[in-house]
Amino acid sequence: MSNVPVRVTVNGREHELEVEPRLLLVHLLRDRLGLTGTHVGCDTSNCGACTVLIDGESAKSCTVLAAQADGAEIKTIEGYAEANGKLHPIQQAFWEEHGLQCGFCTPGMIMTAVDLLSRNPDPTDDEIRDGLEGNLCRCTGYQNIVRAVQQAAAEMNPTGAQA
Ligand code: FES
Ligand code: FES
Repeated sequence: MSNVPVRVTVNGREHELEVEPRLLLVHLLRDRLGLTGTHVGCDTSNCGACTVLIDGESAKSCTVLAAQADGAEIKTIEGYAEANGKLHPIQQAFWEEHGLQCGFCTPGMIMTAVDLLSRNPDPTDDEIRDGLEGNLCRCTGYQNIVRAVQQAAAEMNPTGAQA
């Protein structure tokens, strides 16, 4: 089957590529654009390691064809790196609350947390657990991850105001 053109904006940079129709978005990001912060944990839409933001909403990029993302604005974990090394408040909170061990699930957790806090800036414990239920961690037991998201919420929304 012949290749199809895809135009995506990733972390603010526009890319025009020709891709195989069967190429998954996660492979476009990792293999074609070199953005290996987005991980592949299962390839079957279970683990959430491949989560990115597509037009502002979190999505498992192993469930999306690259061709389906044509015209989309995509954000990956690399989009949060600042040249001076400053971390995004959610990254900082994961660091301070020990929300990671091996780190494999962390980029996907952070992308999901970004989406969650953009829709619900002051989530309860249960809402955080619900929001992260599509992301699996095999190391931490989740308690520290939930604490990290709570800390990030407090940092990003000090008045506790709802959206
Ligand atoms: S690699 Fe996409 S959900 Fe696991
Ligand atoms: S920190 Fe190892 S899988 Fe989550």
